[in-house]
Amino acid sequence: MKENFLWGASTSAYQVEGAWNEAGKGPSVQDVKEIPEGTTDFKVAVDHYHRFKEDVQLFKELGLKAYRFSISWSRVMPNGQVNEQGIAFYEALIDELISQGIKPIVTVFHFDLPVYVEKKGGWENRETITEFSKYCQLLFERFGEKIPYWQTINEQNVMALAGSVIGTSKKSMKEKFQENHHMLVAQALVTKYFHEQDYAGKIGPAPNIASVYPATDKPEDQLAAFYMSALRNWLFLDVAVYGTYNHNAWHLLETIGAAPKITKEDQAILASGTCDYIAINYYNTMTVSAYYEKENKIDQQSGFGIPGFFQSVENKHLPLTEFGWPIDPKGFRFTLNEIYSRYRLPVLITENGIGAKDTLTIDGKIHDKYRIDYLQEHIKQMELAEKDGVEIIGYCPWSALDLISTHEGIEKRYGFIYVNRTETSLLDLARYKKDSFYWYKKIIETNGL
Ligand code: BG6
Repeated sequence: MKENFLWGASTSAYQVEGAWNEAGKGPSVQDVKEIPEGTTDFKVAVDHYHRFKEDVQLFKELGLKAYRFSISWSRVMPNGQVNEQGIAFYEALIDELISQGIKPIVTVFHFDLPVYVEKKGGWENRETITEFSKYCQLLFERFGEKIPYWQTINEQNVMALAGSVIGTSKKSMKEKFQENHHMLVAQALVTKYFHEQDYAGKIGPAPNIASVYPATDKPEDQLAAFYMSALRNWLFLDVAVYGTYNHNAWHLLETIGAAPKITKEDQAILASGTCDYIAINYYNTMTVSAYYEKENKIDQQSGFGIPGFFQSVENKHLPLTEFGWPIDPKGFRFTLNEIYSRYRLPVLITENGIGAKDTLTIDGKIHDKYRIDYLQEHIKQMELAEKDGVEIIGYCPWSALDLISTHEGIEKRYGFIYVNRTETSLLDLARYKKDSFYWYKKIIETNGL
């Protein structure tokens, strides 16, 4: 990859930190949501809040050039007021990373709305736009000089399309797309503010983007793929990059009665706060046919159907992870190319990885060849995408260390670093380097070679 390529790794606050009610932190929707049976909650997570120095040492040993993490809104503004102890935690983490030569990449909001905001109606309430702006302004003020890349909102499209699974919203499509609209306005407002203040860093969205294949060469399947992509992918990036709604996505939303109410003033705001670069999370592609009635199993990577437009189907050419997500490295190259040919903005990959049930051996090893294979194939395709001409800033796989999955517990592990705990017992929370740790270290040392 090109010089200064940011080989990194990612996490999010509620999935690693723990200390859910310490040092002035208020609850977020993730702390109070119903947890699927048999999986852990997020109260201790992997205790990164108390062990961040040890973790950063390991990141340094791994050779990370960048670490992408999120800030917990309910830790720094638990009830609308600043919690200086929360700020102090992130200041210490950021300074520790910088002192070890690791660039801090920050996501402002990753699925963990504070409960005090949720109680006032959450994103359905327009006042949340103001609350979010206050929160972002605080972060920019305190950390604006230290962060080279900011992401506004993680996977806003997943919140809109699969919010009930990840614990962010259980509302109807109509209500969710109104919430979504308010998030888009909030994103544009803070982006505009960030630019006006002339901070040195760059700011962008972080949706989960997946190219969509038609199930067959039937023209109606082609159109189905086109419409799913408009709704799942381009709606979010068109607003972030061009400042306007994608007209196909808008037509779909109107047809199913889920188009949000938007004002002239909103339109002007969207146009005035467009992004500097695009961050994306990629796990796999989608495959769809023309719509037929079918029960949908929804999560971030499973598909879904919209009557009259499209229906997700299985892609028989793709193997599945042990948690049932398709594996499609070539689709990664295709997705990167699709994004770049539409928007011509640099792309930062903020998530990509495989969830698996790792085993810690008696001598403290984790032989995760499946993770090495998965990442290696994706890196190869990313390098081909770069040769195709896509401008890529960095690659931050999910995840730097084991963390609690959004809805499948700690046993669905993603990290380069194993954390010794189970769903039901915290054990000693000790850190162990997986085989993938040593492999990724070499990848970084050789710049991908
Ligand atoms: C993305 C999220 O959807 O995928 C992460 O941004 C999440 O928060 C990751 O952990 C993997 O999903 P899951 O459900 O396996 O944890």
